[in-house]
Amino acid sequence: MRAGDLYYDPYDVEIDADPYPVYRRLRDEAPLYHNERLDFWGLSRYEDVVAALKDLRRLTSTRGDILEVVKAAPVMPPGIFINEDPPLHTIHRALVSRMFTPKKIRALEEKVRAFCAACLDPLVGEERFDFVLDIGAELPMRTIGMLFGIPDSEQASLRSTAQRALRNQPGRPLPVTKEKYFDGGNYGEYVKWRVDNPSDDIITELLTLEFTDLSGTVRRLTRQEVQIFVGVIAGAGVETTGRLFGWMGKVLAEHPDQRAELVADPALIPRAVEELLRYEPPGPHVARYVTEDVEFYGQTVPAGSALLLMLSSANHDERQFLDPEQFDIHRDISQHVTFGHGVHFCLGAGLARLEGRIALEEVLKRWPDWEVDLSAARRAPTSTVRGWDSMPALIGRS
Ligand code: HEM
Repeated sequence: MRAGDLYYDPYDVEIDADPYPVYRRLRDEAPLYHNERLDFWGLSRYEDVVAALKDLRRLTSTRGDILEVVKAAPVMPPGIFINEDPPLHTIHRALVSRMFTPKKIRALEEKVRAFCAACLDPLVGEERFDFVLDIGAELPMRTIGMLFGIPDSEQASLRSTAQRALRNQPGRPLPVTKEKYFDGGNYGEYVKWRVDNPSDDIITELLTLEFTDLSGTVRRLTRQEVQIFVGVIAGAGVETTGRLFGWMGKVLAEHPDQRAELVADPALIPRAVEELLRYEPPGPHVARYVTEDVEFYGQTVPAGSALLLMLSSANHDERQFLDPEQFDIHRDISQHVTFGHGVHFCLGAGLARLEGRIALEEVLKRWPDWEVDLSAARRAPTSTVRGWDSMPALIGRS
């Protein structure tokens, strides 16, 4: 369990407040880490994390990709494509990826900007706003809601779904339950409604498109399968993106010089979003189930183990990034693993980047400076994502 006094517990609130010193020690002293008490293995170096994400032969996603789930190793219901391996994953992912092409994402720009304005305009003239409650809990869910074709009249219920998503993740020390993990939100009723009310949206497209399944049969997805797909997309895209905004408020308040550069030259904003994603990944790790013995650094990780891949640590690996502990919007950041790597690379990366860029543009237009009130900020009680439930900004104080 311990290498010297080196101990890493992904559920430990104190470690989680600033995990980077522990990550650094793990990379240097125990690049393959074994926590016997919590019964998992972990990789922390960039190179190893990327190699593991590519190792589809010995590491499977079919027993979940969140540590608690992988440890319980349930057999997943079909359709949760984030928890499938090729060839089934390839077929299912292809159905969704055609809806997330760069062209389709670019076409959302105007609407996402309008959502942002609707969130931020009512706050102009106030002394404070909240990066998580006013942007994080609103924008990602509204954007997904629009893609799903959920009517405007349902915005109130969308908001509560988003808030549940922001809180309903496996926390520490709460173990994840199967029910919670498989809960696809209340999207079932929308899917049912869309069957009789088709429109130009993802749910309608998923309900109607034809594909060749593993057995060679040409068919459509069942309503139940569509509901699962919708749950996967919303589950993967709302909570994570929501957390990005809390980090945005905090990190830019801590780096006022770089924030001023963004105000002076908004063309730098995409770089700033990318560096934010590298510096404070909303999803600190993913996990895999080991299907056959695999060796790292002369030690065998036996089949049946849970292996934690520490994305945040990889993003701070000095073997890969110069001065990784510095937030620097001018660095070359193309290689971070915040969105994973390989076949499961985040399908919504383009959308998250778009939301991050537009929100930052719109915030900086209205408020070029702010301080954050860390005494009132609230950490999110979860280990699946790392971030804040609330990040209040005091406007014009810096
Ligand atoms: C997959 C992170 C936003 C949809 C992933 C994975 C990561 C990730 C690390 C890989 C999981 C694995 O390998 O097990 C993030 C972060 C986001 C974000 C940090 C925001 C900052 C989004 C958005 C959407 C989305 C906005 C959709 C609208 C998905 C889907 C997958 C995925 C569907 C599964 C892909 C597959 O299995 O082929 N995401 N994500 N994500 N993400 Fe994201």
